[in-house]
Amino acid sequence: MSLPEDLLELAAATAREAGRMLVDKRPAGGPDVVQTKSSPTDVVTQMDRAAEALIIERIRAARPDDAFLGEEGGEQGGEHGGGSGVRWVIDPIDGTVNYLYDLPDWAVSIAAEVDGVAVAGAVEMPRRGESYTAFRGGGALLHTASGTRELRVTERVPLSRALVATGFGYDAGRRAAQARVLTGVLPAVRDIRRGGSCCVDLCSLAAGRLDAYYERGVQAWDIAAGALIVQEAGGRVEGLHGAAPGPELTIAAGPGTFEALHDLLAPLDPLRG
Ligand code: IPD
Ligand code: CA
Ligand code: CA
Repeated sequence: MSLPEDLLELAAATAREAGRMLVDKRPAGGPDVVQTKSSPTDVVTQMDRAAEALIIERIRAARPDDAFLGEEGGEQGGEHGGGSGVRWVIDPIDGTVNYLYDLPDWAVSIAAEVDGVAVAGAVEMPRRGESYTAFRGGGALLHTASGTRELRVTERVPLSRALVATGFGYDAGRRAAQARVLTGVLPAVRDIRRGGSCCVDLCSLAAGRLDAYYERGVQAWDIAAGALIVQEAGGRVEGLHGAAPGPELTIAAGPGTFEALHDLLAPLDPLRG
């Protein structure tokens, strides 16, 4: 049996171990870029690979029949979970460019899906000393050295007072389109934040430190854990016109703010480019 609570315990312990390893083993001169992906600035370091290998090894040792979707290693064991129906969705470092530059906002993100639905999510931010967890129906929690608190999104914040996070892809053409959409958003909101890690943005939203988030181009591993954490903190995470969140567009915010941001974005043609 795969209870969300048990899956969460494994996700959180594994994310914590990977986060510690990423801090302890980060080379003094910075990690090496071992590969570039969609563009010369879309980098993979030896540490992204080492963290994903550690995560899969630990989870596989505990649950040999599960499947995996990792950013670096791709699909292993089938889209709908292995023999167990459980699939782990892993971003070993979300915010690799921050990690490369030794900026603190990067995270390890691990979600567990049962029959394609995320039921547990852990986001570990070692440089902030923060661990975010949620399981479906169980609320969202922030754990720090000074204790644990339940998370709640902000609600019904007028756009003119909303602090909105977004992100940009690695492809130059995509970025030009994202900049065009941003020219329609920036004058309408309190301000924009571009933190450099999608799952950190989603957790900050869940903690009430941001009022909204949107981005085109995010993948399952970027959002799987963070979206569950936002939902369990009372927020909405969707695409345009009720579509599922994903690469086309992901919008996240508390009730009221979500609808306002959605309606601001829709006429800006955010799926173009
Ligand atoms: C990236 C970060 C960034 C977002 C990009 C993602 P990575 O993930 O989440 O904030 O804007 O869309 O690709 O490459 O650091 O794992
Ligand atoms: Ca990512
Ligand atoms: Ca990554």
